[in-house]
Amino acid sequence: MNLAEIEAVKARAVASAMDAANAQDIEAVRIEYLGRKGLLPQIMKGLKDVAPEDRAAVGQGANALKNALNAALEKRLSELKANATHEGAPSAFDATLPGRWRACGTMHPISLVIEEAVRIFSRIGFTVAEGPDVETGYRNFEALNTPDYHPSLDNQDTFWLESGELLRTQTSPVQIRVMEKQPPPVRIVTPGRCYRRDTTDATHSANFHQIEGLYVDTDVSLADLKGTLAYFAQQMMGPDVNVRFRPHFFPFTEPSVECDFTCHVCLGKGCRVCKQSGWIEIAGAGMVDPRVFERVGYDAEAVTGYAFGMGIERIAMIKYGVPDIRMLYDNDVRFLTQFR
Ligand code: DAH
Repeated sequence: MNLAEIEAVKARAVASAMDAANAQDIEAVRIEYLGRKGLLPQIMKGLKDVAPEDRAAVGQGANALKNALNAALEKRLSELKANATHEGAPSAFDATLPGRWRACGTMHPISLVIEEAVRIFSRIGFTVAEGPDVETGYRNFEALNTPDYHPSLDNQDTFWLESGELLRTQTSPVQIRVMEKQPPPVRIVTPGRCYRRDTTDATHSANFHQIEGLYVDTDVSLADLKGTLAYFAQQMMGPDVNVRFRPHFFPFTEPSVECDFTCHVCLGKGCRVCKQSGWIEIAGAGMVDPRVFERVGYDAEAVTGYAFGMGIERIAMIKYGVPDIRMLYDNDVRFLTQFR
């Protein structure tokens, strides 16, 4: 064999070493080339027939073939070993390991109650309307038939802005916004944030949330209102919860009522949560005052409607047993993660 032939053998040998799929293949390649009856010993044997002046070069070529093939076999063997521990071995995926923990946020209890209330009302045909937190005095008070001597207009209660606008003290102005734009019938709920200049304590917060409802059509009655609130109470607090109305006054409804839910803790027997009364005050409500209809250009002779408004925090507190409204605003994760 001359040098060129040896080079060709070397290339072939190294290539088949690198193609080996397992340890047996490696051994087979080794035997084929380097074994006692392999190609290399034959080359060595043939050296004596090579012309003397070429002999040294051919001998070196044969040596180089042996070294290159040994290196390739070794390299391929360690590659196969490394792959085996990653791919082949059954331990590559351990199904018994605990899953990886991923920190996941939780819904805030206020959001939970808003979402649930919206779901409940949407099942009986209410759609959601929203209005801005910055509201005009007209929509927050005047259009809602609240005379300007009413105490709620006082600085004590309302955050007035330099612009003359205010931070809405209730979600009721959204009723006005909707009726200004849309002819009857109207059936909406409006959840949102409200603001009052209240000193914070266990049950008061300067900002809080309400959900307001408004239903206007022909022949809407107080009985419809009671049925709707009873349905809501049962869906939100449990099937044994009922409602009762107590006479009240709101400028924008006539007649006006306050609506209590059966205390869901004692189911009316009397306990600490309901201060032994068996009832919990939840909503203000009533039949929309004809003067409100006149303000928005509705025919007060042709339509009737009911409206209600309730505090989201209050519902969240009784539903989840939260003793202090400030816990809803402290953003303490130890509290919030309980609502997972
Ligand atoms: N806006 C009232 C409040 O914040 C609650 C309320 C009472 C809303 C009667 C109404 C209603 O829509 O008809 O105290």
